Amino acid sequence: MEKENLYLCMGSACHQMGVYEVLPKLQELIKEYKLENHVELKGSFCLETCSSGIVMKYKGQHFINISPQNIEDKFIGEILPMIQERNLPLNS
Ligand code: FES
Repeated sequence: MEKENLYLCMGSACHQMGVYEVLPKLQELIKEYKLENHVELKGSFCLETCSSGIVMKYKGQHFINISPQNIEDKFIGEILPMIQERNLPLNS
């Protein structure tokens, strides 16, 4: 199955805001929701919205204002629905 890239910004601004705390949490969430076969987590260069908290990108959409404190809520509330939406029509 083809995996879709899920990007986490590793640029310097996002780094300072705690990307290295976000990363392990994200890896946990991907495991917890059994998404290993659906998404490929990748580091990204600066996504150019540095003033808006840590940034992630999935299928051209940006998710901003992420922090080590809210990554779980953000993931479940915003990113997960996007991933699941994509995967619904599969296997038909
Ligand atoms: S460093 Fe992350 S958006 Fe610029």
